[in-house]
Amino acid sequence: MAVPSTFFLTLLVLSPTLAFGIVNLTSKLSTNDMSPQWLSPSGEFAFGFRKLNATNLFLLSIWYDKIPDKTVVWQANADHLAPRGSEVKLTASGLSLTDPQSQVIWKIQPNKAISYGNMLDSGNFVLATNDSADAWESFKFPTDTLLPNQTLGLDDSLFSRLTETNYSKGRFELYFSNGSLLLSPVAWPTETRYVSYFRSQNTTNTSNMAAQLVFSESAEIYIVKTDGGEDPFRWKQTALDTNAYYYRATLDFNGVFTQYSHPRGSTSQQVWSIVRYVPDNICTAIKSIDTGSGACGYNSYCTIENQRPACKCPDGYSFIDSNNQFRGCQPNLSLGCGADDEYQGRPEEIYNITVSTNGDWHGGNYEILKPYTLEECRKSCFYDCFCGAAVFQDDTCWKKSLPLPHGRVVVAGIRIAFMKTRIRSLGQFAPNAEKKDGSKPVILGSFVGSLAINSILLATIVFLVLSKPKKTIQASSVVTFSYNELKAATRGFKEKLGRGSFGTVYKGVLKSGNFIAVKELDRVAQEREFKTELRAISKTYHKNLVRLIGFCDEGIHRLIVYELMGNGNLEDFLCQRPKPNWNLRVEIALGIARGLVYLHEECDFQIIHCDIKSPNILLGEKFTAKIADFGLAKLLLSDQTGTQTMIRGTKGYVAPEWFKNVPVTTKVDVYSFGVVLLEIICCRRSVVMEGNEEHAILTDWAYDCYVEGKIDVLTENDEEGMADNGRLRIWVMVAIWCIQEHAETRPTMKMVMQMLDGSLAVHEPPAPSSFISTC
Ligand SMILES: *[C@@H]1O[C@H](CO)[C@@H](O)[C@H](O)[C@H]1NC(C)=O
Ligand SMILES: *[C@@H]1O[C@H](CO)[C@@H](O)[C@H](O)[C@H]1NC(C)=O
Ligand SMILES: *[C@@H]1O[C@H](CO)[C@@H](O)[C@H](O)[C@H]1NC(C)=O
Ligand SMILES: *[C@@H]1O[C@H](CO)[C@@H](O)[C@H](O)[C@H]1NC(C)=O
Ligand SMILES: *[C@@H]1O[C@H](CO)[C@@H](O)[C@H](O)[C@H]1NC(C)=O
Ligand SMILES: *[C@@H]1O[C@H](CO)[C@@H](O)[C@H](O)[C@H]1NC(C)=O
Ligand SMILES: *[C@@H]1O[C@H](CO)[C@@H](O)[C@H](O)[C@H]1NC(C)=O
Ligand SMILES: *[C@@H]1O[C@H](CO)[C@@H](O)[C@H](O)[C@H]1NC(C)=O
Ligand SMILES: *[C@@H]1O[C@H](CO)[C@@H](O)[C@H](O)[C@H]1NC(C)=O
Ligand SMILES: *[C@@H]1O[C@H](CO)[C@@H](O)[C@H](O)[C@H]1NC(C)=O
Repeated sequence: MAVPSTFFLTLLVLSPTLAFGIVNLTSKLSTNDMSPQWLSPSGEFAFGFRKLNATNLFLLSIWYDKIPDKTVVWQANADHLAPRGSEVKLTASGLSLTDPQSQVIWKIQPNKAISYGNMLDSGNFVLATNDSADAWESFKFPTDTLLPNQTLGLDDSLFSRLTETNYSKGRFELYFSNGSLLLSPVAWPTETRYVSYFRSQNTTNTSNMAAQLVFSESAEIYIVKTDGGEDPFRWKQTALDTNAYYYRATLDFNGVFTQYSHPRGSTSQQVWSIVRYVPDNICTAIKSIDTGSGACGYNSYCTIENQRPACKCPDGYSFIDSNNQFRGCQPNLSLGCGADDEYQGRPEEIYNITVSTNGDWHGGNYEILKPYTLEECRKSCFYDCFCGAAVFQDDTCWKKSLPLPHGRVVVAGIRIAFMKTRIRSLGQFAPNAEKKDGSKPVILGSFVGSLAINSILLATIVFLVLSKPKKTIQASSVVTFSYNELKAATRGFKEKLGRGSFGTVYKGVLKSGNFIAVKELDRVAQEREFKTELRAISKTYHKNLVRLIGFCDEGIHRLIVYELMGNGNLEDFLCQRPKPNWNLRVEIALGIARGLVYLHEECDFQIIHCDIKSPNILLGEKFTAKIADFGLAKLLLSDQTGTQTMIRGTKGYVAPEWFKNVPVTTKVDVYSFGVVLLEIICCRRSVVMEGNEEHAILTDWAYDCYVEGKIDVLTENDEEGMADNGRLRIWVMVAIWCIQEHAETRPTMKMVMQMLDGSLAVHEPPAPSSFISTC
């Protein structure tokens, strides 16, 4: 099996040649390009400096000199590379590597006087004393590679290098322990060992414990035991031919201990081939019972390709380092709790779950749920901000947080892995987006002179244009649909959901499977305004606003596409009998208030809704209130001069200033909110024509009841509401503050919010209007 040659091309070879094995005292090598190396007599191995690709740094090393790859088999100073101008010198006290400032980078100092060095044909570099005894040899201090004739003793170990091209000590170790040869990941950059992923044998008794690992001259590799026996451990048997091939055994940077062969002879264009290796499948061999990421880095799937481990990122993830897939993957958009808790109740806004049938994760569980169904498992992860992935099998759900360890590609169909990814970046959802001081309200009073309106509109548009570049990321999340796409999605506008304020709404489904509500606008706004306004709308993200998905702008066809809300609108919800749960209603009211605070005060452009009413409040999953149709009033109700004369809003909800010659402000929404709040409290419509005339107008009736001290009448038959007496009374007071005739008297939505949640005291409200009787 061919190994990619780039694996070995990491070093540039410096110029050749000199000497025949023996290295005399005071001999030097320098990083100078013309400097000779110390060659073995056959010329097959060389000792010297190698320049690392793309750096000006040098590695003192031993390599195969006759093959094109010049494969390094031993290195001295990987953790402290030598700058240009460094030199290595042999003296009687040993070998020392110094930088240009004569600082020692690396040295060998045996306790004996050295007479000479010797680069042997076996690839062993030795320092000898005057009686030829070896004082030091490189074979006794292996790095990541063993060669024929080399043995690994009980106290020796091999460390993988860090990456293909980085020779520093890496993440795996081959060593002896308890009479066995073991492979373990280490807690890089320390040398603390994790649980082993390979063990040569189960130690039974002292006589058969491993004593050393032998790489014989004939290229066999086996363990010699204390009783002298040989144990091929779990190497597969194979035919070897040392006359035709070089052999080496390397603990690869990816943790696999591999024996390689390479045809001898410099003419060969061939590369190293894998002869045999352990473990068979490092992806599954590394156990999850311990810490560490597994063979690949965190958040990545390990798989075996061409006998080598390879790492893959799950969908929505990408490599941390594109040059080193073993460093792990990171989510394209970061996951986690805290940053936008506001949206945690509505995960579909920010997360997507992808299902993998052949991806699997071991370890890293923070919760094991059983018995659980597949769907429960998926949802549990979806709604849990701690959850990054979940694995399901039979009736068990393992929930995992990031970083995910021990990912692997497995046979499909046994376990299901759910991967959670963000589909929107964090900042995009920040509800407290800075408010622009210079921005003007989008909606302006209906009766103000057109000249003033025009200049303000112009200013607004100029502002929008000027501030556009900063916003492109958000704006780009809105999709432009063709009319035909939407026609197909709605099956020819077949299923009508209702008539909204500005057009008819149809149900549809996108190719992705997401359900949508398509609103076909019946009034056609100016083209430029349509786009400008949609852009402004598209920048609003809030839990309590219906999300705009996209739009269509084709000739006469102006359509707006929203997410579809599964639980209908507030009007229908309140009509149910028995009355819907009080606490749910309380949450809905708070949600609407939050949404309005956002529109009025927190989004980039103040938006006055102008048509707050219960049919315009949609209910999402978990009955979260979502305000619909915001931003459309400006778009659809102003004529081409920027003024309009018709009364906006809906009977029963409209603020008195619509009938007066005063500018419309955010207070119109406060008025309408007050009406909706009363509807929520009473579970009835704002205007009821049939029946008791006294009760026909909700606002009047509510105030009457309030001043008569008969609040319980408002919530007849509603035990939960009655039980929540303190809140009930305060909320009725808040509603009455909201429906004050004079806009200045009404509180802002922010104050309303604070009064509703109890952080602002509520005083006795005055009579809403001069012509309401206060019997
Ligand atoms: C090292 O550099 C050579 C020549 O510039 C290049 O061909 C080779 O791909 C590089 N190897 C690596 C691993 O970057
Ligand atoms: C080492 O010394 C011997 C004799 O002193 C000499 O013949 C040989 O060329 C020297 N080798 C080197 C590499 O200088
Ligand atoms: C291996 O060692 C033996 C005995 O020590 C020696 O004869 C032989 O030449 C060595 N082989 C290599 C390739 O150096
Ligand atoms: C080697 O050197 C030591 C002292 O450095 C000396 O005593 C011994 O005689 C020498 N041996 C030979 C064989 O030269
Ligand atoms: C090798 O990796 C180590 C640790 O990340 C780093 O400090 C060193 O600079 C790297 N060496 C090279 C040559 O890139
Ligand atoms: C070696 O054996 C001891 C005692 O049985 C055990 O505690 C230890 O974990 C073993 N070490 C390894 C690396 O297996
Ligand atoms: C060691 O024992 C375990 C459990 O008995 C067994 O699964 C494993 O294959 C054995 N390992 C070797 C190398 O024999
Ligand atoms: C120890 O192992 C040797 C060789 O495998 C075997 O002959 C001997 O009976 C074993 N001794 C014990 C006590 O199991
Ligand atoms: C994640 O980022 C990578 C690299 O930028 C990209 O190739 C991939 O398509 C992205 N995936 C998703 C789901 O956005
Ligand atoms: C969610 O994941 C599914 C399945 O991978 C994919 O088809 C869909 O496009 C994703 N949705 C988003 C919004 O990324």
